[in-house]
Amino acid sequence: MRIRDFRIGDEPVLWDVFFSAIHELAARDYSAEQVHAWAPADMDRAAWAARIRALQPWVAEHEGRVAGYADLQPDGCIDHFFVSACHARQGVGRALMEHLLRQARGRGLAELAADVSRTAQPFFERFGFEVVEYRLPVRRGVAIPNARMRRVLPPGG
Ligand SMILES: CC(C)(COP(=O)(O)OP(=O)(O)OC[C@H]1O[C@@H](n2cnc3c(N)ncnc32)[C@H](O)[C@@H]1OP(=O)(O)O)[C@@H](O)C(=O)NCCC(=O)NCCS
Repeated sequence: MRIRDFRIGDEPVLWDVFFSAIHELAARDYSAEQVHAWAPADMDRAAWAARIRALQPWVAEHEGRVAGYADLQPDGCIDHFFVSACHARQGVGRALMEHLLRQARGRGLAELAADVSRTAQPFFERFGFEVVEYRLPVRRGVAIPNARMRRVLPPGG
């Protein structure tokens, strides 16, 4: 497993990871209507790619193939955290989360926070995050429940 910086040109393969994570993994916990509102097949790819370039995620590669990606913003928020369905439950998410935690400690952040899907909540709990509140954001007219979760980082730790 290798975690590397995002590179211009990664956008299409990261879209594939995002799409597969939502349509194949999160689809277990959300309706078809919610999944299609969250990641529509006809999403404006240029706008999505611009968003990813702004987030500057790290990319996980497994056996030379892109398997997942995740970002950490300066305020400690994680915006995207996705593992492709064909790489699920093989430690890719763990490698990304451990990398984010190292980065957060290196930056001296006091806490990490994310709006976490139902699918990812047990994974985030596994890494010490706790639910702060349940939320009901609306995307493309469809409510897609998630939870704001956070993990406090001990000073100097
Ligand atoms: C949540 C997600 C990132 C987990 O990635 P992953 O690569 O499958 O996770 P890992 O294999 O590294 O698992 C790490 C640990 O979390 C646990 N875990 C992972 N998914 C879990 C789940 N759904 N339920 C319970 N535990 C889970 C694993 O058992 C493992 O524990 P262990 O170390 O004791 O064996 C991935 O399933 C995903 O992308 N889901 C869909 C998209 C999504 O909802 N993204 C988040 C948006 S906020």
